[in-house]
Amino acid sequence: MQTPYYLIDKSRLLPNMEKIAWLRDASGVKCLLALKCFATWSVFDFMSKYMDGSTSSSLYEVRLGREKFAGETHAYSVAYADHEIEQVLDCSDKIIFNSIGQLNKFADASQGHIRGLRVNPGVSTSDFDLADPARPFSRLGEHDPAAIDAVADQISGLMFHNNCENDSYDRFDEMLTLIEDRFGDVIHKMDWVSLGGGIHFTGEGYPIEKLAARLKQFAETFGIQVYLEPGEAAITGAATLEVTVLDTMHNGKNLAIVDSSIEAHMLDLLIYREPAKISPDTGPEEWMICGKSCLAGDIFGEFRFDAPLKAGDRLSFQDAAGYTMVKKNWFNGVKMPSIAIRELDGTTRMVRDFDYSDFAAALS
Ligand SMILES: Cc1ncc(COP(=O)(O)O)c(C=O)c1O
Repeated sequence: MQTPYYLIDKSRLLPNMEKIAWLRDASGVKCLLALKCFATWSVFDFMSKYMDGSTSSSLYEVRLGREKFAGETHAYSVAYADHEIEQVLDCSDKIIFNSIGQLNKFADASQGHIRGLRVNPGVSTSDFDLADPARPFSRLGEHDPAAIDAVADQISGLMFHNNCENDSYDRFDEMLTLIEDRFGDVIHKMDWVSLGGGIHFTGEGYPIEKLAARLKQFAETFGIQVYLEPGEAAITGAATLEVTVLDTMHNGKNLAIVDSSIEAHMLDLLIYREPAKISPDTGPEEWMICGKSCLAGDIFGEFRFDAPLKAGDRLSFQDAAGYTMVKKNWFNGVKMPSIAIRELDGTTRMVRDFDYSDFAAALS
């Protein structure tokens, strides 16, 4: 197959799916795939055997979830536009509003639909300000228990997403206790609570039994159905980006230029200033792997190899599924801006519009 291509390996996806299925059985939680992390729908049939459905962050994602991922479909977005709400409701089993303002605005439109509200507990595990839902002045969810309590009769569920790449069970437990203490009164009035994503329970050595017991206890204490929204935990390690070396150079370091680009094909790494992963990363030869775009910093990282690299060598970047394929670039399924041209006479014409079919076609 001609490189570059992302390779999703079902044999590497399967262990994650089996852990998710085990957690569902052991704890009673329902697990929804977070499409913001991974929306490559050709493997949705496979994944949906182990999961309960999907959750979304936009109209396009919720529609993709409804059309392609069996089971429940949750709708959430930081903000819905007036023209989107009807279709979002058509495509979803539950809608989670990000603010009381949006809940009120769409109160009539969403009458009779299962509704929830996102709550920001003010604590998180993110190491990056950019990705920290509890950062100062965060717009991600309502934070005041009294204000949430005042609209409790309009909703039946809450969504908290404050774990970010959290591989510490103790920290998860600590933050859930804090949520119970601060929002327990209103949780008691609910039928369901989603704890979002960000819990790395499919990772090696994670005490998944403790997590199952804690989730079960949380559900029983409040008489609620608990949901998790794994993204990364579902697809971690399941895909690679396959590339070929096109040229080599030396400029103080060994440089290999590949037929791909971190800016175009693994943007998440560039945003967070993290290197790509190559396995094994051993051997006497040290090489900087560079993208073929003209961006000077289009560099995948520096890696070790057994022998000098040469044109035609094939390389695999690991972990190319989560927040990677979705960032080439339909992140969150946010509608791509159209392109319009204003002519010299002042008239404006649209030359290209993008819609749901472009989003769906971009991912498989
Ligand atoms: C509301 C919500 N749910 C789920 C997720 C998925 O998180 P992860 O991919 O870390 O599991 C995110 C990630 O940003 C999120 O914002």
